[in-house]
Amino acid sequence: MKNVLVVYYTQSGQLLEIAKNVVSTLEISSEISVTYHQIKPVKKYDFPWEKETFFDVFPESFLQIPCKLEEPQPEVLSKKYDLVILAYQIWYLTPSIPINSFLKSETAKQLLKDTPVVTVIGCRNMWIQAQEKMKVLLQEVQAKLVGNIVLVDRHINHISVITIEKWMFSGKKESYLGVFPKPGVSQKDIDEATKFGKPILKDLLQGDYKNLQYNLLKIGAVKVKPFLVLVDKRANVLFGKWANLIIKKGKPGEKKRLKWIGYFNKYLKFAIWCVAPIVFIVFLLTYLPFLGQIKKDQKYYASVDQKL
Ligand SMILES: Cc1cc2nc3c(=O)[nH]c(=O)nc-3n(C[C@H](O)[C@H](O)[C@H](O)COP(=O)(O)O)c2cc1C
Repeated sequence: MKNVLVVYYTQSGQLLEIAKNVVSTLEISSEISVTYHQIKPVKKYDFPWEKETFFDVFPESFLQIPCKLEEPQPEVLSKKYDLVILAYQIWYLTPSIPINSFLKSETAKQLLKDTPVVTVIGCRNMWIQAQEKMKVLLQEVQAKLVGNIVLVDRHINHISVITIEKWMFSGKKESYLGVFPKPGVSQKDIDEATKFGKPILKDLLQGDYKNLQYNLLKIGAVKVKPFLVLVDKRANVLFGKWANLIIKKGKPGEKKRLKWIGYFNKYLKFAIWCVAPIVFIVFLLTYLPFLGQIKKDQKYYASVDQKL
């Protein structure tokens, strides 16, 4: 019997639906036993979000400051796992606070040490540097990343910015004004996530994952968009400056800090709506000379390799 643990944190339930679809293909085998571990922060993050709170979690998210989590069910800790499926959201270009907190916990050390891990990301579209941070977190608990599956909102960047905001603040995954597309990962992509279970099942039964990511890529597990690689990298530098500045202004919810969160929010809007389009034009104009590097980056970010 092979034991599989699914660790997840989701607010809308979208990510659990994706993870369940991936795992449904594993469960066809009578040799697989699946256990779920839902990450639960002691102080819950409300969903739908209050606008202020949504932006106020930025410094702790980006600086990867953990929160307190509830203890897992004893059943979760009672087994040794052959494979862990880690389904996570991105918050501010970083693994979400609950997932980051889990990976920094003693529980994660116990559950993940020397264990193969497949990460499953469900986000808007900016996940590249978050996955680099995830690689470090997994290395710190001595887990082995063997696969990565990324499901995103496939609409153009600016459309997905508008629709995700409406979704996060209303809690309803529906078309804004009846004009915009539905936010988040499309139902088709969610339903088709079952296909990713096949190569995972094969390698799990054989206990050999060296070709797993290659086989996952063949069926479309990851698509790396060069422009988003560039934006993600640049935004990480700028977010670092903002986060370090705001964290010094006080604790979450404090008046002085909220004033700065307000400035950050305005800056974010300016960067998305005014700076990003200019950067996009420059990117297109300078695309060809950098093609070699772009291809190299695409290959690396689609892989489970880790830069030294
Ligand atoms: C505070 C916050 C920040 C987010 N930041 C990002 C981000 O930087 N990149 C991204 O692609 N998605 C981002 N998202 C979207 C989430 O990754 C995720 O898709 C969304 O919260 C829905 O997840 P769920 O359906 O599992 O609850 C953010 C969401 C929240 C709540």
